[in-house]
Amino acid sequence: MSKALLSIRDLTVEFDTPAGTVHAVNGVSFDVNPGEVLGLVGESGCGKTVTLLAALRLLAEPPARLVGGQALFQGRDLLRLPRRELRRVRGRDIGFVFQDPLTSLHPSMRVGDQIAEALRVHDRGLAAAAARARVVDLLDLVGVPRPATRLRDYPHQWSGGMRQRAMIAAAIANRPALLIADEPTTALDVTIQAQVLDVLRLAAAETGAATVLVSHDLGVIAELAARVVVMYGGRVVETAPVGELFARPRHPYTAALLASVPRVDGPLRLSDPVPGQPPTLLEQPVGCSFAGRCPCREDRERCVVEAPELAPGTHKVACHFPLTASRS
Ligand SMILES: Nc1ncnc2c1ncn2[C@@H]1O[C@H](COP(=O)(O)OP(=O)(O)O)[C@@H](O)[C@H]1O
Ligand SMILES: [Mg+2]
Repeated sequence: MSKALLSIRDLTVEFDTPAGTVHAVNGVSFDVNPGEVLGLVGESGCGKTVTLLAALRLLAEPPARLVGGQALFQGRDLLRLPRRELRRVRGRDIGFVFQDPLTSLHPSMRVGDQIAEALRVHDRGLAAAAARARVVDLLDLVGVPRPATRLRDYPHQWSGGMRQRAMIAAAIANRPALLIADEPTTALDVTIQAQVLDVLRLAAAETGAATVLVSHDLGVIAELAARVVVMYGGRVVETAPVGELFARPRHPYTAALLASVPRVDGPLRLSDPVPGQPPTLLEQPVGCSFAGRCPCREDRERCVVEAPELAPGTHKVACHFPLTASRS
């Protein structure tokens, strides 16, 4: 038995599109341990969101197709859970924060009522006054000033940062064991980003929830995550404790991502993308999905004919010729 809270195993997801089959997620496996903050990083389009939405059965099928794999949450496979049980798990045991709080919040419902609703869906017996008191506490926790008054506002009266705080409050309302935050700060101004990350850190600490923090920005990941999973082309290419990953990246893609992060002043940020284009995913690569852009490949045949497997261990890498630790 694994001690993981969530164990995604060999998850494979495709989309049927007019242009052909998009191989969005190809045999992705990783664990989330209780209470840890796991960072999921990779360029836009590498399959981060689809992996998580598929694991929670939140993708529209079709066009999505779950080809195979498991998503074991507290030992139960979410992919095979009856819909009713799944709905109970989502929102109660697993909370979500998405990139755009405006599309996640209902525009014509008061912010406070939406958070109260999140509570009452999973606790039918909760009285209105008790729910309201919980909402005030939650808004206070996430740093909304004058929460007892502001809970009567509508989402459009709140700034992007405040709305994202409200989303975090709703996500932790039922004290979930797992919090999933998919690009939670991407739509926000840089100055607000750091504040929202602080709120997320506080929310995770307060509830003890394990957190999956998804970002294309290594700077954001470095702020919060203890362990990192790097994805590329619908696959996991490397996973390691955060310090280890930043100090000694072993996959050429991770190294390239890190090299494009200037470390001068201010927060780390991914300014220059890695040269070249990520794969379209319309064809499933036979070899390594990074082979076409890899600066270390040197025409080695093996990279294009054989897909590298993730080697076991605490620092896992899927590369036939990983970088060695002797880099300074
Ligand atoms: N509804 C969809 N139909 C077709 N392709 C999709 C759909 N949603 C996502 N994809 C494709 O799946 C791949 C992974 O997307 P996504 O998981 O959103 O990437 P990320 O979150 O890492 O930016 C991309 O190539 C994207 O174009
Ligand atoms: Mg995404």
